[in-house]
Amino acid sequence: MKKIYNVAIVGLGQIGSYLYKEILTKRKEIQKKTGKIINIVAISAKNKNKKRKFKINKNIFFSDPLKLISEKKIDIIFECIGLSDGISKKVVEKAIANRIHVITPNKALIAKHGEHLSNMALKKKVNLEFEASVGGGIPILRTIKEGLATNKINKIYGILNGTCNYILTEMEKTGDSFKSVLKKAQDHGYAEPGNPKLDLNGYDTLAKVKILSALAFNKKISTSNCLMEGIENIESKDFDMADQLNLRIKLLGITEIVNNRLFERVHPCLVKKNTYIANVSGVMNAVILEGMPVGETVLQGEGAGPGPTSSALMSDFLSILRGNIKFPFGLPNNARESARIYDDKNYENSLYLRFEVNDKPGVLSQITKHLAKYKISIQRLIQIPDNTKKKASIIIITHSVKENNSNKCLRSINSIKNIIKKPVLIRLFNGNIY
Ligand SMILES: NC(=O)c1ccc[n+]([C@@H]2O[C@H](COP(=O)([O-])OP(=O)(O)OC[C@H]3O[C@@H](n4cnc5c(N)ncnc54)[C@H](OP(=O)(O)O)[C@@H]3O)[C@@H](O)[C@H]2O)c1
Repeated sequence: MKKIYNVAIVGLGQIGSYLYKEILTKRKEIQKKTGKIINIVAISAKNKNKKRKFKINKNIFFSDPLKLISEKKIDIIFECIGLSDGISKKVVEKAIANRIHVITPNKALIAKHGEHLSNMALKKKVNLEFEASVGGGIPILRTIKEGLATNKINKIYGILNGTCNYILTEMEKTGDSFKSVLKKAQDHGYAEPGNPKLDLNGYDTLAKVKILSALAFNKKISTSNCLMEGIENIESKDFDMADQLNLRIKLLGITEIVNNRLFERVHPCLVKKNTYIANVSGVMNAVILEGMPVGETVLQGEGAGPGPTSSALMSDFLSILRGNIKFPFGLPNNARESARIYDDKNYENSLYLRFEVNDKPGVLSQITKHLAKYKISIQRLIQIPDNTKKKASIIIITHSVKENNSNKCLRSINSIKNIIKKPVLIRLFNGNIY
């Protein structure tokens, strides 16, 4: 077997530059653990002259990562650029075509092109590894593929985006607005400074959910549109209400098999304060997995950041160096079927609804009339007047209702003149609260 491995790192941002240093400082340890000698023979980023956190060897620098693949003899490449399409996809395709093992933390790329890229990797008999794409440092993918290899997994849910969890935790703790807490998250480097939209609107969590589903249920990555809602509309008054009800707001990614159909979704949930998931705070991620015969398994850890992400990249690296040539999704691709998709219109939950209204007689009865029309019954109703502004918040906790009915109902409620803002809807996790 090969003794010396040539490595390339493409993308030297937060992740790539930390990884570069990590590999250099751990070369001896890697050799001890795998018997392999590591040489970083090429690195690439867009801008050669950019000031970086670590001293980079400019002699091995390429501004064009595709050129690096043609010109250097490489065994393993780390793709750390990001985004689902464009140069990162081209790099991975070209690397695999040239029989180079690929390791990537890029969830957007795997969630969108994982089938195509894994087919290529299987044909070329190289690894495509992406442990770092879900849950940062939490070894969730390897746990599913190896540690729980013969379990029948029914459901996985969790907090998969540290940015959102930080914002929700801070809003609850401080009472500050979404906007000011987002700014704080950006100042701390927890949220992207330019465009944090993909974290906040649930897209990032959904990409991770899709990867988890494929591995856990042995299905192809689903391409269907899923229920995806982010945290942008949640206000501090929702946290006050949640507190009164002994609940907490969390953005959850959930995937499960319901009646032999795959049901993936991402949305804010009201969870009971005494549950495990309610107490995962700040930038922490947690994944809860229900399997047979293992039962419930919980993995928690830092979900992002260069350290945890590099930890997962290094685990993929050592797996390859030890000669573990694996199916990217745990079994041959032709043994993974497309999932039949659950119709989310049948999804049933108790709902928290908040209506902002002009405080005028008859508004409440108009709302309840619409709810009755769609057979939505009320568990609890709270009205909070704001006398100075002649406005009020009406909070309604419903009994369990189908998504189809609540969607139609909220559309029709929009026609009520004295409702002054789009209603806020938060689903209660696991049914009723009482
Ligand atoms: N940051 C995290 O905490 C985290 C956690 C888990 C997974 N990830 C994933 O890790 C990947 C990298 O994230 P990051 O935070 O390190 O991103 P980043 O800081 O924005 O770094 C991106 C890097 O890609 C380089 N790049 C951009 N276009 C290029 C091109 N055409 N050719 C060569 N290099 C190019 C950039 O070059 P310049 O430096 O010259 O601009 C930069 O070094 C993404 O897929 C992300 O989703 C990140």
